[in-house]
Amino acid sequence: MMQRSYALNLLDDKVGFGRALINWYDEYQRDLPWRQAPTLYKTVVSEFMLQQTQVVTVLPYFERWLAIFPDFKTLAEAPEAAVVKQWEGLGYYTRARNLKKLAMVFVNLEPPPKTPEGWQALPGVGPYTAAAISSIAQGYPQAVIDGNVVRIATRLIAEGRLFGGSAEAHRFLSPLVQSLLNVERPGDHNQAMMELGATVCTKANPLCVKCPVSAFCEAFRLGTPESFPVLLKKVLVRRQVARICCVHEGAILLERRPSTARRLADMYELPHAEPFGLLLEKEIPVLIKKRGIAQEIIEEPIYQVMKEALSDTTLTRADLHWVPISEVDQVTLSGPHRRWVKALLEKLY
Ligand code: ADE
Repeated sequence: MMQRSYALNLLDDKVGFGRALINWYDEYQRDLPWRQAPTLYKTVVSEFMLQQTQVVTVLPYFERWLAIFPDFKTLAEAPEAAVVKQWEGLGYYTRARNLKKLAMVFVNLEPPPKTPEGWQALPGVGPYTAAAISSIAQGYPQAVIDGNVVRIATRLIAEGRLFGGSAEAHRFLSPLVQSLLNVERPGDHNQAMMELGATVCTKANPLCVKCPVSAFCEAFRLGTPESFPVLLKKVLVRRQVARICCVHEGAILLERRPSTARRLADMYELPHAEPFGLLLEKEIPVLIKKRGIAQEIIEEPIYQVMKEALSDTTLTRADLHWVPISEVDQVTLSGPHRRWVKALLEKLY
């Protein structure tokens, strides 16, 4: 195979690359709570929270979580509903349920897993989290690969091939990313890569002038960092979901999702309008919310309705609950529904 030439011999000077990166990290790393007096528990919790979620969003949740569930044992013994409640607003609630399951397995496990494969046997731990935990908390020489790392790696070598999805990108880039790992400080190297991706090598407007490894970067040399990576565009599907807001005698009607639901199991929401068979087309919604979830753009008009408009037979459905407004904070709603309910109660009642 023909060897391509890179900006500053990335492939011939991986040690130089690793040194430049770690020196930058030592000087500029953000002061994050899981980096202060790190423990295995803090690393596991933070890496679960940081899956698909930004550092700024995670910060208040992490601090609160540690105050309430300070160790694996407390978490293992806590009721699942209390655990999910503390995750309210972070999204992807399966992470909270899996973290509790992991704690339950962990407290009976002696010694703890020592390799990424060992970690991957535990609930909710995929290749990314296994590499992060074992490298950060245990010094295991395994490179992590996430969206940030894909961006950095494709830019370093100006890799312009089209990736059908992240799994394909990870597979292709993993040998390069692993070969760049600083095996003396794998946890810091991995965190430095993620940090660089989050703060410097950003998707739009990367700050190449502040980049510690720009001299090794082919995309920087070409002046086109934003052209990488090339990922297949998601096809977005638009969908409308009408909901109702009904308050009666100081209580709001909420719908509880089935325990068996793949997403948001057992969580409360504003009820779907459709089963009530109301003629809402000519009504004006009190709120219209739009959000993107995975491959969908969902528009959710919310209609204010009187209890009298709802048939008594429908209201006996087991998943519908009249929750006193004074107790709304105690049930678990998803982040958007929490905001919508708050806005509706302030606006209408
Ligand atoms: N994203 C995921 N894990 C991270 C970490 N440990 N530091 C910074 N960003 C991250």
